[in-house]
Parts: sequence; structure tokens; C-alpha cells
Amino acid sequence: MIIDPKTRDHWDVYRLLSGSILPRPIAFVSTISADGVLNLAPFSFFTVASANPPIIAFCPMVRGGDRPKKDTLVNIEATGEFVVNICSEDFAAQMNATAGEYPPEVDEFQFSGLTPVPSEVVKPPRVKESRVNMECKLHQLVPVSGNFLGGTMVLGEVVRFHVQDGMVNSIGEIDADKLDAIGRMAGPVYVRTKDRFEMIRPA
Ligand SMILES: Cc1cc2nc3c(=O)[nH]c(=O)nc-3n(C[C@H](O)[C@H](O)[C@H](O)COP(=O)(O)O)c2cc1C
Repeated sequence: MIIDPKTRDHWDVYRLLSGSILPRPIAFVSTISADGVLNLAPFSFFTVASANPPIIAFCPMVRGGDRPKKDTLVNIEATGEFVVNICSEDFAAQMNATAGEYPPEVDEFQFSGLTPVPSEVVKPPRVKESRVNMECKLHQLVPVSGNFLGGTMVLGEVVRFHVQDGMVNSIGEIDADKLDAIGRMAGPVYVRTKDRFEMIRPA
């Protein structure tokens, strides 16, 4: 089967991408609006862009209707700050609850029951339930496409890592069992990070 995306509906193309590029890690992003409303939302178009300096990237897409820009992006444009919280299975349902298309005045911390705790360097709070939080300062916004289902790549420099005690071994590796991160497949399907195998990379 050979597909020219230009001949397909936008959602079909979205499904080809999200069904092929998987599993995707989830950036559970906390921000604060210019007038002080807290916001929390998950983004699975998420990766590392650089380790020196530490820069992560995630992509809020353009939605339909009269609010094409997601609150997360609006807040980052206004404040230049955000926190990426890693989502573990024990609060996956609360993470999912924050993903509804709520108006900007809704504080997703409040109705999800997740706990905001102060960050050290940035204004947006961290999610207490996350074993790993990354406080970020905006590095660069890359507007990729303003079309429906287009998006902006948000690049943030990690200015503080918070790692729960007992999660890191003697050579600085995070214990994946304790982190128990989940990933996103297509649609409503998620994966656990418990089924693993090893391969030593050639020298
Ligand atoms: C696991 C998961 C991953 C998601 N990944 C993305 C993503 O990468 N980009 C995006 O625009 N929306 C993504 N969404 C949808 C957003 O979370 C949703 O649009 C949310 O309402 C945005 O919130 P905001 O307007 O407060 O920023 C995802 C939803 C879920 C449940």
C-alpha cells in the first residue's frame, strides 16, 4: 500500500503518523497563564532535542473551532516557562482526565486531584505525584504549520530536574521499574514500560 498524504483526509494522515510512530512518551506539561490560572495537559509528540544543554521538545497541535491555540502554548508564549512531569501508571487516569478541551479558566490540577507543588526556578508548579519533573525555560518556538492539525514545536531548556529519592542508581541511571512510565499508542491505547530486552551497541 502506497499513500500520498496529499490525497488523504487530515485525520487519516494523523492516524498513519500516530499509529506508526509509537510508543510515544508523554510530556505531562504544567503551565501558568498570565493571570495566574494553573494548567495541566499531556503531549505525546515529545522527545529529547539536546543533552548539552538539556533541551526537550514537544508539539501542541492546532485544534479546530474558535480556540486553535492550546492553553499550554498560550501560557508558554506569555510566560516562557513550563514543567514536564513524567506520567507513571498509578496516576494515568488523572493524566487522561486533564486532556479534555477545557476553557482556559479551568485549572486541571483542581479537578484531576493531582497536587501542585512549588518549582524551584520557574513559576508553574510541578506535579507532586510524578517521580521525575523537569523545570523548563523556553528555548525556542518553531511554528511548523498553522493548518488544522498542524503544530508548533516547543523547545525548552531543563533548568532543574527533580527526581524522587531512591530512583537513581550509583551510575546515575533512573530505575525504570520505579518510574513505571507509560507511553501512548494510537487512540486510547497505552503501553507499560515493563517488557524489555537488552542489546549491547557495537563499539
Ligand atoms: C496521552 C495524550 C497525549 C496527547 N498528545 C498530544 C500532543 O502531542 N499534541 C497535542 O496537541 N495534543 C495532544 N493531546 C491532547 C491534549 O492533551 C489536549 O488537546 C488538551 O486539552 C490540551 O490542553 P490545553 O489546551 O490546556 O493545553 C494528547 C492527549 C493525551 C491524552
